[in-house]
Amino acid sequence: MNRPIALFDSGVGGLTVLKSVMELLPCENYLYFADNGYFPYGTKSYADLRLRLAKLLNFMENFTPKVVVIACNTASLHVEYLQNLTNIPIIDVVTPTCKHVESVTMNKKVCLLATDATVQSQKYQQILQKVGVDVVAVPCSDFVPIAESGVCDTTALDIISSKLQPISHIDFDTVILGCTHFGLIKKQIFNVLGVRNYVQCGNPTAKVLFDVLQNSNLLSNATKGGLNIFTTGKTQSAIKVCKQLSLRFECISTVQI
Ligand code: DGL
Repeated sequence: MNRPIALFDSGVGGLTVLKSVMELLPCENYLYFADNGYFPYGTKSYADLRLRLAKLLNFMENFTPKVVVIACNTASLHVEYLQNLTNIPIIDVVTPTCKHVESVTMNKKVCLLATDATVQSQKYQQILQKVGVDVVAVPCSDFVPIAESGVCDTTALDIISSKLQPISHIDFDTVILGCTHFGLIKKQIFNVLGVRNYVQCGNPTAKVLFDVLQNSNLLSNATKGGLNIFTTGKTQSAIKVCKQLSLRFECISTVQI
């Protein structure tokens, strides 16, 4: 029996991670949990979010996943806490992304766009500064509902532009989309910040997942995989984003956690 890999986020953002993961590991079974009933994570208190994540982990454990991937930067701040609650290996997105950023930036100056919680935690800044990379960090929790709703009207574009215009003259060569939702509004961010390296969490995280599965002899030997989606809120956004990302799923259901 091919046990599934579970991924979760506060909503549809983590589907950008799932896309990369499914491209690298197409023969695995996936469960994606969109915790949009508790959306957004990035403005919740540290303690409240921990309680919620513990509850969610407990729910996911019922499906006996072989690995849990935290497809969310804000929730990744709690990876050690969650790992202490379970024997299932847990993978975060921040550590793999930082490793990748280090190898991509030529001038050692990067910009971090992330939720208020992720920026305040200083996690990215501490890891990158240790390897000599300067970080211009911009808290952008106000971009998250734009990406979640998929509505990029003039009000949304004004929010993005007024936040990013003031830093657009800075010579960082790399932009970290340090919130998994931001892959969904990359074009709008690019339109303000222009040509730079844009780093998303998906590919670096997928590679770490591959290594973990291989090293523990857990790679699937099936000829095809599958995807089931659970949401704690409405299903529309996930259906829309799956279409946008060409992600095929077997079933989507609403659950109460
Ligand atoms: N997508 C999440 C992240 O990567 C969180 C967005 C939110 O719910 O605030 O941080």
